[in-house]
Amino acid sequence: MLEQFKQEVDEGLSNYPKSLPSKYFYDKKGDSLFVKIMHLPEYYLTRAELEIFTKQSQNMIDALAVNQSTYFELIELGAGDGLKTKQLLKALNEQNYNFSFTPIDISQNSLNIIEKNIKKDIKNISINKKQGDYFKVLSSLKDNHNPKVLLFLGSNIGNMTDEVATDFIYKLGSNLSPNDKLILGVDLIKSASIVMPAYNDKHGVTKEFNLNLLDRINNELGADFNIDNFSHKPEYQEKDGIAKSFLVSDTEQNVYIDKIKKTFYFKKGEKIETEISRKYNRKILQGIIANTDFQIIKQLNDSNNYFSNYILERF
Ligand code: AVI
Repeated sequence: MLEQFKQEVDEGLSNYPKSLPSKYFYDKKGDSLFVKIMHLPEYYLTRAELEIFTKQSQNMIDALAVNQSTYFELIELGAGDGLKTKQLLKALNEQNYNFSFTPIDISQNSLNIIEKNIKKDIKNISINKKQGDYFKVLSSLKDNHNPKVLLFLGSNIGNMTDEVATDFIYKLGSNLSPNDKLILGVDLIKSASIVMPAYNDKHGVTKEFNLNLLDRINNELGADFNIDNFSHKPEYQEKDGIAKSFLVSDTEQNVYIDKIKKTFYFKKGEKIETEISRKYNRKILQGIIANTDFQIIKQLNDSNNYFSNYILERF
C-alpha cells in the first residue's frame, strides 16, 4: 500500500504536466471532508441523486424487472452513507421482494455505519457486508448465479478517464450473468455557472479537500510541502463536459519527499492535476459502454435534469 502510494506520487510529480491520483484524497480527514462536501448547498450531485431515489424508486423497480418471489442480490460498490440506496431498499421491502443487500467497501468502518443506518429503518433486511476490493468480492459472488443488481452511484465513475471507465464497466459485466442490471449514477453536462461552484464552494471545503492530498503526502511520505504555497483551482470545459481540479504552485519552489528521497521542482504557476470529474450525456455514455456487455434500458433524471441514474442490462 505504502509502496504503491510512493510509486504513484513519484511518477505523478515527475511527469509533465504533474498529476496525483484522486483516490488518495480519501484518508480519514478526506473522508470526513467529502461528507461535508455532500451537504454543501453548491454540491447539487448528492441531492439530485437522492431525489431520483426518493421520488422514482417505483420506476427504478419496474425497470429492474425482478420477479417478486425470486431471490436476488442488490450489491452496492462503495458504501457511502447508504441514504440514497435506503430509499430503494425500503420500497422493495414494503413490496415484499425477496432480496439481500451486499454493500462492498474498502473501509470496514463505512460498512458498519451503513448497516446501522439501514437497519434503523428497515428492521428485517438481510445485509451481507463485504470488506475488500470490488472485483475480488464480485468474483467471489459470481458462482452463485442469483440474479444481481449492482449499484455504482454518486458519479464515482466520473473520477475515471473514459478509457478506464470502459475497462471498469467491462470488468463489472464479466462478473455478472445475462439480464443482471447495473444502476449507474452520473452527473450530466450542464453550464459552468452550476458546475464550477460545486467544485469551488464559498466555505472552502473543496479547497481543503484538495489540499489535504499534500498534507497526506507530508504525513505519510515525510514531505515538506508548504500548503500555504499552493492554491486550489477547478476548471470546467462545458463543451466536452470535463471538470478538473488542480493545485497550483503560487511560487517557484522545491519540495523534498523523504520516503522517495527526491526533490521536486515547481515553477511559479505550475499545476498538479488532482482530479477529473467527468460529466455525461447519453452519447458519451453510449460510447463508453460500446465495447462492454451492457445496454441502456432506462434513464431516470432528477427534476432539474442535473443528474441521471442509468439502468444498464447485461446481455
Ligand atoms: C466522489 N466524486 C464523485 C466527487 C466528484 O464530484 O468528483 C469527488 C469530489 N471532488 C470534489 N468535490 C467532490
